[in-house]
Amino acid sequence: MRFSVRECIPQNQVRRMTDAFRATDEFAAQFDSLLVWRRDVRRFKTDLLEPGLLEELIDRACLAPSVGNAQPWRFVSVESPDHRNAVAESFERENAEAAKLYKDEQAMLYAELKLAGLKEAPVHLAVFSDTETPLGSGLGQQTMPETLVYSTVCAIHTLWLAARTRGVGVGWVSILDPRVITRTLNVPGNWQFVGYLCLGYAIENHDDPELVRHGWQERIDRSKVLFRR
Ligand SMILES: Cc1cc2nc3c(=O)[nH]c(=O)nc-3n(C[C@H](O)[C@H](O)[C@H](O)COP(=O)(O)O)c2cc1C
Repeated sequence: MRFSVRECIPQNQVRRMTDAFRATDEFAAQFDSLLVWRRDVRRFKTDLLEPGLLEELIDRACLAPSVGNAQPWRFVSVESPDHRNAVAESFERENAEAAKLYKDEQAMLYAELKLAGLKEAPVHLAVFSDTETPLGSGLGQQTMPETLVYSTVCAIHTLWLAARTRGVGVGWVSILDPRVITRTLNVPGNWQFVGYLCLGYAIENHDDPELVRHGWQERIDRSKVLFRR
């Protein structure tokens, strides 16, 4: 499924109030459809992304909200085969450790899950949060310094949605040792590792999560997450 809103946000274009965004019913319906079809993708074709598409997605991610407008997200495109191998080895090691936590049927099910598309995905992005950025002058972070990382997660989700509108799947890999990622990519000490993203074209598209399809975890509904006091 492809969405046809490729250029819904012009790059480097400041809009005036008179151009204010108004969602049509059709856009709202398409946006809902985007949310339903977003998916965490682990099964990728090896086809490369079109030139410039990664940069376009990063530009969209940078439209995310951030505490104090600190924009702490830092993206590292991991391109060297040596670096990719180091990441894949970390995943294999950590996944083997994680598998030991489960017993019996759940252990068998875990072993069958595909939890990363590191070998096939043409684009690897390591995402960090700059914990010492001077941008934003600390506004909003005094009581909750973790809001910098929350801001970086907002950027990841923005990128995830933007990628999907362009037919690109994203898979978030967290079964990694952050120390290995930080050391391998030689990033500044004040960059906190947040997530490792695989990007590429999905082999198949689904409107339900892989972990639901494979019987690991059902979705819960609103009655379990909305509370009133
Ligand atoms: C913070 C975070 C970490 C995740 N880590 C992994 C991971 O290491 N491996 C994996 O296969 N999926 C990972 N996922 C994807 C989730 O499994 C997926 O989002 C969830 O099962 C719901 O499926 P959906 O994203 O397709 O709706 C992660 C997602 C998030 C938000």
